[in-house]
Amino acid sequence: MKDIAMTSDKKILRALAGETLPTPPIWMMRQAGRYLPEYKATRAQAGDFLSLCYNPELAAEVTLQPIRRYGFDAAILFADILLVPQALGADLWFVTGEGPRLSTITTADELAALKPLDAIHDTLNPIYETVKILSAELPAETTLIGFAGSPWTVATYMIAGQGTPDQGPAHLLKDENRPVFDGLINRITEATISYLSMQIQAGAEVVKLFDSWAGSLQGDDFLNYSIKPMQRIVTALKELHPGVPVIAFPRGAGEQYIGTHAAIGADCVAVDDGVDAAWVAEHVQTGGCVQGNLKSSHMVTGGDALVSETRRIVDALSGGPHIFNLGHGITPDANPENVQLMIDTVRGNA
Ligand code: CP3
Repeated sequence: MKDIAMTSDKKILRALAGETLPTPPIWMMRQAGRYLPEYKATRAQAGDFLSLCYNPELAAEVTLQPIRRYGFDAAILFADILLVPQALGADLWFVTGEGPRLSTITTADELAALKPLDAIHDTLNPIYETVKILSAELPAETTLIGFAGSPWTVATYMIAGQGTPDQGPAHLLKDENRPVFDGLINRITEATISYLSMQIQAGAEVVKLFDSWAGSLQGDDFLNYSIKPMQRIVTALKELHPGVPVIAFPRGAGEQYIGTHAAIGADCVAVDDGVDAAWVAEHVQTGGCVQGNLKSSHMVTGGDALVSETRRIVDALSGGPHIFNLGHGITPDANPENVQLMIDTVRGNA
């Protein structure tokens, strides 16, 4: 485990430790992705997306591609949040042009049939190998971020067997069979602690929890199923790996973003583009470092709007710790030149 003080030449770690930097460090969600021709070439070499995730050499290669091209301040491990359900025993496949498909877990018997915790690493070992390669190969100034999905978001896929616009099947199970739903959330929570702990042991310097569907939870449900499982994970990781920062991303939380640093115990809260940067400065950044929140469509459209929006976000969040990022992942139709324009704008070179 690395000590923050020893690696404080890394801008991302400084921001995560609460420092307000003159220029925010930058990385981008899905920075290794289909908008890059070199990613598409390596993915073709791997065969398909899952083969790429489980091939340590090639997964490390696609992780490094955006670092070489743009010099981002952080690299994010190339993998997927749905590898944890697969490691727990769910079938997983990707339908081209549509997205992920999984065998579903909605009954007590299906829950009981999931693999025991210590068996998940049989599947996930290649991911730790990828982390080790990256840890050795990344430039000294680049921070390595590991990640996992949050229990709620992973559960929405395991229950529905696919992505859903409103997470209806997960809400239905929560309301109709609370013991199975709670049991599934607990299993994912425990697996995630173990998975992230192994990523940290392999060399991840920061971990991020993606709660992509937090926005469909309100009130007590938001507290019990977005915040609390993430808080359990953070508490366990901080005990095992003191000093390793955690970024939490309760996407779509809106006003519920207020107080999330403290409630989760996260060093940084990532914000989507549904909240205004000036509001974030006033209501969320007061709790600690924030990450975000440029609309990813600017990476498609570019031009003056990209420049002025980027500047507005940088200015609005300049009074506290900030990591510049998009509000969600970059899309396959993005223009790689617009990414360079965004970086030049943040760094004052545009
Ligand atoms: O950010 C990164 O570059 C790191 C790698 C990463 C991927 N997925 C690679 C990926 C990360 C952090 C994720 C997280 C992830 N995966 C989330 C949470 C973040 C979010 O986007 O809300 C979710 C919900 C998933 C599940 C998932 N994986 C979906 C719904 C899809 C299909 C949608 C799509 O874009 O095609 C994926 C596939 C996926 N994961 C791709 C990549 C680069 C595209 C696969 C391909 O190359 O065809």
